[in-house]
Amino acid sequence: MLINGTHYHSITYIPAADPERDAIRIIDQRYLPYEVIFRDLNNTSDVMLAIGEMLVRGAPLIGITAAFGLYFALNEAPEDDLDNFIDRAAKEIINVRPTAVNAAYCVNRVLIAIKEADTLQDKKQVALKRALELWEEDKMICRKIGEEGLRIIKEISRKKEKVNILTHCNAGWLACVDYGTVTSVIYQAQQAGIDLHVWVDETRPKNQGARLTVWELTQNGVANTLITDNAGGYLMQQGLVDLVLVGCDRVTRDGDVANKIGTYLKALAARDNNIPFYVATPSSTIDWDMEDGVRNIPIENRDANEVRYVEGWCDDQIRTVLITTENAEVCNPGFDVTPAKYVTALITERGLCPATTVGISLLFPERM
Ligand code: MRU
Repeated sequence: MLINGTHYHSITYIPAADPERDAIRIIDQRYLPYEVIFRDLNNTSDVMLAIGEMLVRGAPLIGITAAFGLYFALNEAPEDDLDNFIDRAAKEIINVRPTAVNAAYCVNRVLIAIKEADTLQDKKQVALKRALELWEEDKMICRKIGEEGLRIIKEISRKKEKVNILTHCNAGWLACVDYGTVTSVIYQAQQAGIDLHVWVDETRPKNQGARLTVWELTQNGVANTLITDNAGGYLMQQGLVDLVLVGCDRVTRDGDVANKIGTYLKALAARDNNIPFYVATPSSTIDWDMEDGVRNIPIENRDANEVRYVEGWCDDQIRTVLITTENAEVCNPGFDVTPAKYVTALITERGLCPATTVGISLLFPERM
């Protein structure tokens, strides 16, 4: 997708003459929208730090970064304890941010490839191949999600001159390899000539909406308006929202949806106002083994200082300011779970389906 008119991926494999020096190039999202800073990562601890400190974030991008992290682990493994070392590395990478199931999905796919190969050399080759396949697959899946979701927007645009979408957090190309999930739908609708406008929740405490989604949509020429997290319900009551469209970090096999904290409240407000609530989900975000998301999805608790302080751009640098008392007691869950009953439909790469076990299994019979 576009940054100042040039096409980029959010993560790129950078091969080196010596494969042990192979790297991935990422955009350090902590600095967006103020500065575009690329960083190269080439070992597991850098990868885990990048995921934990949110240099990269968003479920699909966490997954792809994690896959390369396991490839890098093969350069660090002692030959006499290779299997244990790789198993441990896989677990550690997956657990950095526990809510997004994509990390487990991608790391396990690389792990299977590693286990099937015999020599260390072969293991390295297949791990890289698998990570690159996942990279390619993510792009293809996101493009398909856009095509499937476009049908919804087209339908609404038959009755409305301008389609108003409300979104939460960033489920954009910055959260994937390219296109995004929510934004893939938006970009395809834009390309189809549909007049649309996006309400962007600021998404406290990390402000992914304000910092990332506004920037990304603006770079790609999509009309958008930033709103506080509390404004959505009011806008819905005023008839200013035609649909809510959000991404997700884990969908249970019975259709419950974990996404950025605050998503659930948007779903409740949407239901009260008869507004459809759609969730764009790649199959890599579906947890085929889990049911009852409210009870079972692990919710990441993040640092209290993310709530006590607000970050912003001042005098050419990022500064933080305290917005409460220094030692305020804080609770900072990163995600919440929207029960399936509030989800109008899931938008997957294989089409739309109801957020139910039956609905999901009709699209993905081989997984259920
Ligand atoms: O904490 P983040 O920024 O990683 O949270 C991201 C989200 O909640 C996204 O909506 C989700 O990962 C889907 S991205 C296609």
